[in-house]
Amino acid sequence: MEQRRFYITTPIYYPSDKLHIGHTYCTVATDAMARYKRLAGYEVMFLTGTDEHGQKIEDKARDAGVSPKQFVDNIVTGERGILDLWKLMNISNDRFIRTTDDYHVAAIQKIFKKMYDKGDIYKGTYKGKYCKPCESFWTESQLADGKCPDCGREVQDAEEEAYFFKLSKYADRVQHLLEDTDFLEPRSRVNEMVNNFIKPGLEDLCVSRTSFTWGVPVDFDPGHVVYVWVDALFNYTTALGLYNDKYQDYDKFWPADVHFVGKEIVRFHSIIWPAMLMSMDMPLPRKVFGHGWLLLDGGKMSKSKGNVVDPYILAEMFGVDALRFFLLRTFPFGSDGSFSNEALIQTTNVDLANDLGNLLSRTVSMVGKYFGGTLPAGCGPSEEDLHLAELSARPDCIGITVEPGDVACDVELVALAAGLRDRYEEQMEHFAFQNALAEIFKVIDRANKYIDENAPWVLAKDMEANSPRLAHVMYNLLETLRVCAILLTPFIPQSAAEVLRQIGACERGSTWESAAAWGTLPETVAVQRGENLFPRIDADKALKELEEIAQAARRAALPDLEIEPQLEEKVDFDTFCKSDFRAVKVKDCQPVKKSDKLLKFTLDDGTGVDRQILSGIARWYKPEDLIGKTLMAIVNLPPRKMMGQESQGMLISAVHTEKGEEALNLLILDDKIPAGAKMC
Ligand code: MSP
Repeated sequence: MEQRRFYITTPIYYPSDKLHIGHTYCTVATDAMARYKRLAGYEVMFLTGTDEHGQKIEDKARDAGVSPKQFVDNIVTGERGILDLWKLMNISNDRFIRTTDDYHVAAIQKIFKKMYDKGDIYKGTYKGKYCKPCESFWTESQLADGKCPDCGREVQDAEEEAYFFKLSKYADRVQHLLEDTDFLEPRSRVNEMVNNFIKPGLEDLCVSRTSFTWGVPVDFDPGHVVYVWVDALFNYTTALGLYNDKYQDYDKFWPADVHFVGKEIVRFHSIIWPAMLMSMDMPLPRKVFGHGWLLLDGGKMSKSKGNVVDPYILAEMFGVDALRFFLLRTFPFGSDGSFSNEALIQTTNVDLANDLGNLLSRTVSMVGKYFGGTLPAGCGPSEEDLHLAELSARPDCIGITVEPGDVACDVELVALAAGLRDRYEEQMEHFAFQNALAEIFKVIDRANKYIDENAPWVLAKDMEANSPRLAHVMYNLLETLRVCAILLTPFIPQSAAEVLRQIGACERGSTWESAAAWGTLPETVAVQRGENLFPRIDADKALKELEEIAQAARRAALPDLEIEPQLEEKVDFDTFCKSDFRAVKVKDCQPVKKSDKLLKFTLDDGTGVDRQILSGIARWYKPEDLIGKTLMAIVNLPPRKMMGQESQGMLISAVHTEKGEEALNLLILDDKIPAGAKMC
């Protein structure tokens, strides 16, 4: 039989900054899909990588004082960089492409030349608008209120000699592709593309730049570099071996089965990409799926917002599987979703700790307690169970009826669990991860209810009479856990493997085929108790910890040092001279009762009479550290009362802000200066 193949990609990421949880979302979804297809017996190619050229990277590298290559290397391969992140998140990509890889650069030059030779790329003058952060060209009519329609930022005028791709030539074919085939999903995105971009008239696309150098050079016209999106989109084919000898998988895997992409880059993937492939006479990918965004407080994610969006921190706090699970369980893949730490904790506690975790630990510990860890022979599925399971696994099965003599809850559980794989497959084939997981959790919920209905602890009171029934109940629970764990593997690979290990499922009982074969576990299966898979998270404690981390991040983003600007308004000299600044020696210093701000100073001001000054500096100084010091005070201010005590002047200090925190330093003078010395 011919091996079934599946080629899936994520967008290749810009290494202009560290990745956040929104970026992780798409890669985790792609990973779940790739693992699902492998489980179902496909030979899978899962590609991800980094998109390393462009003006934004060149500018950022300059600001950081390093070369563009050093800059991207640090974010891609450096500590806690992109490669480390995918390793941590247990991403099973088969290949990783960097657009700065030599083989890719050389292939892009050949591709550009081929479209040029064909007459689809020609030289002209570019006049228009350019959004630097998005690396996107826009025509006047595409701007939104004069700003970039993607990010809302200012655009710049741009005019230079440039090469153009004849996008307009392919408008009709692309429109047909979008409207009359299932090329782009979800369907709502088709209308957006056709109405906003194709119907107003597709203009030719500027595909080279001369104003910066960090890109793939156009080898037949020095000074031009290839537009970063042309360079980036073809990664999906160069990584298979198109126009290079590094890989030999082009014929095997192209066209791609699906490109997963975020909604803002659907335009590039559903209009520009197919048009360029048409120009190259190459087959088109079978599908582009534009997923939604994870939003934070209703808007885009950014580090400056309060919530912690660093996937490293979240994975380390809650576990990699909990994070992977949350992303795909909570948000419908095609729509936007609101990310919050509260929801992450809630989902982990409810689904993983309570429902799945408890089902596993209760089942395994009861098999241990009542049967010494090994079920007795004869507890497996009855003829009726097997018949029922077979019926349930058939997609045309229309409901199960309970025959007299059947145990109703057995019938329900077996029917639900045995038919799960088909229902799950149906959802996975449509990239409906949330629904696929919902199907699994319906079965897990039913199994938890099944425990309560059967009350094994009551059956166990009379083992002699009830042992066969109790063993059968346990067997059904283990089988249910087995089916669920197999189907959870793409989402929570490590934890699902641990479930299978604890219930004693061997390799044969962990396959895709066996997920639809009720009764695969041997009757005398031996369970292995293990650690609690998903310990409950203390929400208050975790949220407090995250808030502290977020605060520290906000502080770190603040300027190191802030000093108040100097006053514009002038003071005349005579007025200034009226202020009497004197050296004062601290004879005593005490905290003021009921005030966490004030310190009370007894000072020698050289007059022979003690002077009392109250100063709000308790946050920065311990009273005992100041005794004996020589300070500066202004002594001719009118006395005023603070916390019921008189203050006869003011101590002089320097203030500034450091990382958002107010800092204060008293002016401490040389001890040689006598008390009362006038400052001028
Ligand atoms: N380099 C381009 C892709 C080129 S593909 C030939 C790019 N890179 S990116 O790093 O800016 O974004 C990568 C992906 O992350 C995009 O699909 C984008 O939609 C996705 N996300 C970025 N922020 C996101 C969220 N907050 N939520 C979900 N996905 C998000 O675009």
